[in-house]
Amino acid sequence: MDTITIRRPDDWHVHLRDGAVLKEVVPYTAQMFARAIVMPNLVPPVTTAAMASAYRERIRAAIPAGVRFAPLMTCYLSDDTGATDLVHGHRDGVFTAAKLYPAHATTNSHFGVTSVEKIYPVLEAMAEARIPLLIHGELTHQHVDIFDREKGFIDEVLLPLLARIPGLRIVLEHITTKEGADVVRAHADRMGATITPQHLLYNRNALFQGGLRPHMYCLPVLKRETHQLALREAATSGEKMFFLGTDSAPHLRHLKEAACGCAGVFSAPVAIQAYLRVFAEENALDRFEAFASLNGPAFYGLPVNEERVTYRKREPFSPTPVRIGNEGEIVSLFDGENVEWVAV
Ligand code: NCD
Ligand code: ZN
Ligand code: ZN
Repeated sequence: MDTITIRRPDDWHVHLRDGAVLKEVVPYTAQMFARAIVMPNLVPPVTTAAMASAYRERIRAAIPAGVRFAPLMTCYLSDDTGATDLVHGHRDGVFTAAKLYPAHATTNSHFGVTSVEKIYPVLEAMAEARIPLLIHGELTHQHVDIFDREKGFIDEVLLPLLARIPGLRIVLEHITTKEGADVVRAHADRMGATITPQHLLYNRNALFQGGLRPHMYCLPVLKRETHQLALREAATSGEKMFFLGTDSAPHLRHLKEAACGCAGVFSAPVAIQAYLRVFAEENALDRFEAFASLNGPAFYGLPVNEERVTYRKREPFSPTPVRIGNEGEIVSLFDGENVEWVAV
């Protein structure tokens, strides 16, 4: 199969940043996807409906002329988030969801939640108002091995939370383990999960392929092959809980190629191509539309996109780094490698 036509896909987890980077990266996501759930981990984070509304305007201003793209905004939860602004922001169509970053778990999470118990009242209000909770699911204690932090979070935080607030709908973002896929399946009536291209394409060997590979470093970190295979199985199964979320996370080259490099893989320019490679390898192209265009809207209770897109295999080409004025450049997934799928 060398061509495939599906409903226009959405990206249910993306970082668009702000300022000069935002202007350069938004066009990639906007051209490829009809909608995207935009992560709120700016500096300072997007914590109020007013901030989200202003941020949405800055994103809209960066959409190329003639392109139809809807940014869906999220609220960054902190220990002192109040329920009122969040619930009103959701009612007014500003917030689609709220994001839980355990404090210090990942990029720009220092204002995150120090303990989930502290925000139970807000989470109860979210359940009541049917606002989905999006979670970066990793424990943050330094003594927990970095490869075990997702499983630890599921056992110590997620399962108690699921039991405590039965009405809360939850997306476990960027799952990286078999345990992640399993817990989502076990709570299929109220949970979903996004899966990134890099966690489907690679395992932790890619971090050390012939030397240290900073552009393969993201959080949660790539895991061993058994987990990669479990994720490939989940994504290509067509099961309704699993949907596309690139976690495209741009950082300037010099901030990744550094003694202490930033976490995040920038996949926006080649995201669909990366997923198509996985689905083609798994002989599952017939299930790509479920993952890319149907399961996400179903979880969020949003209409599916009516527009259709066709992709076809072509002569391979290489992505080039994205220039950010005189600030530097951002290296994308597949830099120096080939991409074989293109939208027609
Ligand atoms: C993300 C970023 O850079 O904002 N980085 C990452 O490695 N995934 C944050 C996140 O999604 O955890
Ligand atoms: Zn995250
Ligand atoms: Zn992310």
